[in-house]
Amino acid sequence: MSVSEKVILALDVSEYTYAIELVEKFKDYVEIYKIGPELFISSGPKIIHDINNKGKKIFLDLKFHDIPNTVSKSAVVATKLGVYMFNVHISGGLEMMRKCRDAVVELCLKENLNRPKILGVTILTSISKDILTNELGIPYSIRTHVKHLSSLALKAGLDGVISSPREAAIIRNHCGKGFLIVTPGIRPSWTPPDDQKRTMTPKEAIREGADYLVMGRAVLQHPDPIKAIEIINLEILTA
Ligand code: C5P
Repeated sequence: MSVSEKVILALDVSEYTYAIELVEKFKDYVEIYKIGPELFISSGPKIIHDINNKGKKIFLDLKFHDIPNTVSKSAVVATKLGVYMFNVHISGGLEMMRKCRDAVVELCLKENLNRPKILGVTILTSISKDILTNELGIPYSIRTHVKHLSSLALKAGLDGVISSPREAAIIRNHCGKGFLIVTPGIRPSWTPPDDQKRTMTPKEAIREGADYLVMGRAVLQHPDPIKAIEIINLEILTA
C-alpha cells in the first residue's frame, strides 16, 4: 500500500494553470485529484477534461445538497463529465440520494459510461461536538449521528461516505467491508489543524480503516510539497 493508492490530493486553488502544474508535479505520487468549488467555479469543466486527459482521476467535491430533482440532474451532468467520484450531503435525505443514484445508474447503462462512485458527506470534519449541539441543534454524539447518516447512505445504495478518520472504525463496523470510507481532516504530526476539528495522522487514519485520505494544506503549504508527500508515503507504508 503506497501513497498513490491512498492519497487524494485536494487541488484547493483558484487558478487553472496552477492546478495543472500541481497535477504535473505530483503525477508520480497521486492518482486521484479533488476539485472543489473554488477551482471548479474558476475553471469550469475544462479542468476535469484536462486532468482526465493526463490519465488521472477526478473526485468532484461539490457536496450537492438540494432537492432530489436538482441533485439528480447535477449528478447526471457530473457523470457525463467523466468524474471518478462525486459527493452529496447525506442530510439531503434518502429520496435525494436514491434519485441521484438511480439517475446515474440509468445514464451509465444507456450510454455505456463508467459509473462514478457516489459518496455521502456525514458531518464535516470542521464540525466539533460543541458546534453540532449548540449551533446545529443536533442532540446526539458525533459518533451516533455519523453512524446514523452512514446507515442512511448505505440504504440509499451509495458507494461510501466522507467522514473524519475518527469515525472510520465505527462506520466500517456498521456498514461492512466494501463500503468506501474517504477521510479528510488528515494532519501529519508536523502540521497545525487549521479549521479542521476532528483530525488524525495518515498512519492513524489507515489503521482506523480509511480507504482514501484527502489531503490539501498539509502537502501544498509545506515548504517542500514533494518532500511532504514522500514523508507521508513512508508513514503509509509502515501503517
Ligand atoms: O487542507 P485540508 O487537508 O484540510 O483539506 C481538506 C479538503 O477536504 C478540503 O478541500 C475540504 O473541502 C475537504 N473536505 C473536508 N471535510 C469534509 C469533506 C471535504 O475537509 N467533510
